[in-house]
Amino acid sequence: MQTERLTVFDVEKDKEALLRAAEILQNGGLVGIPTETVYGLAANTFDEKAVADIFAAKGRPQDNPLIVHVSDMEMVKDLVSELPEKAVICAEKFWPGPFTMVLPRGEKVPKSVSAGLDTVAVRMPSNPVAHELIKVSGLPLAAPSANLSGSPSPTTAEHVLFDLDGRIDAVIVSDKCDVGLESTVISLCCEPPRLLRPGGVTLEQLKEILPDIVVDKAVLAQPEKGKPVASPGMKYKHYSPKARVIMLDGDFEKFKKYVDDNAIDGTFALVYEGEEHELSVPCVSFGHKGDEAEQAAVLFDALRELDNLGCKVCFARVPKKSGVGLAVYNRLIRAAAFEVISL
Ligand code: TXA
Ligand code: MG
Repeated sequence: MQTERLTVFDVEKDKEALLRAAEILQNGGLVGIPTETVYGLAANTFDEKAVADIFAAKGRPQDNPLIVHVSDMEMVKDLVSELPEKAVICAEKFWPGPFTMVLPRGEKVPKSVSAGLDTVAVRMPSNPVAHELIKVSGLPLAAPSANLSGSPSPTTAEHVLFDLDGRIDAVIVSDKCDVGLESTVISLCCEPPRLLRPGGVTLEQLKEILPDIVVDKAVLAQPEKGKPVASPGMKYKHYSPKARVIMLDGDFEKFKKYVDDNAIDGTFALVYEGEEHELSVPCVSFGHKGDEAEQAAVLFDALRELDNLGCKVCFARVPKKSGVGLAVYNRLIRAAAFEVISL
């Protein structure tokens, strides 16, 4: 199929292209859409055939559920069997924004959206194009990240086309995604509430309104083989460039020595801005040390660049685990298939 390019930078000026995207969605098609986190691959949540097409286009495992995107609280009520008080409080604080809640699934939501679970993940994006598209289409949109399953999430329309050109009906060409990493996911279907995936809304912020929230083991460590996981997406090797990524845990001096001693042909280093010229191997940087928001915004770009440059092995710096850094760490350790060397 031919993938249509629909340019929408301004929801008023580019209304025609936005309405075309809404029409495609209403007719059961798939559209790559910008959000403030990463690009999503959207379809009508209530259309089982369109939902099946999402899994096929991405090559996504059938047991990995999708997030449903809404533009107002009325839409949420249509998706859940019950809206817990805590969900209302979290929605007031963190929506619209990079924040997803797992809630009890309502009858209208096809099982396939939730991969058979009796829960549904819901998010209200703040990106104006995503928000307006949901509103004008009148549809809650099921949307995973718009990448081929296993590769780094896309933060530009170009990334979406690199992975999915010819496999989806259209892509909206718009601004780069601000946050750069997928949303924070929590479950409110268990007591105490559980952080399943760290993102732009930080654990520190969550603790202010959910003081008893616990961090799921899969956030920091490799889930044990064969054991059930709270968030199926966390069990896959994810966000990976083709290169083998190895994280080196230690200060810059030790990092530099290890890289210099162990570099072979095709070795790169993934380092903080400004460290590049001190190393003997080619480098890709992922933001400044100490600026976790910047690291989040550029990490997936950096992982894609490593592939473009023909990297075979990449030694990476280890991000700090607080604030948005927890999300950067969580993505990078998956790109590294949990391979970390303590220096
Ligand atoms: O920022 C985001 O969340 C982006 C944009 C497009 O909104 N979407 C995204 O979707 O990252 P995806 O499919 O790449 O990741 C969804 C994550 C997966 O880890 C999945 O397992 C988890 O959310 N998830 C979805 N529904 C769930 C449920 N009912 N219970 C537990 N985990 C769920
Ligand atoms: Mg994804």
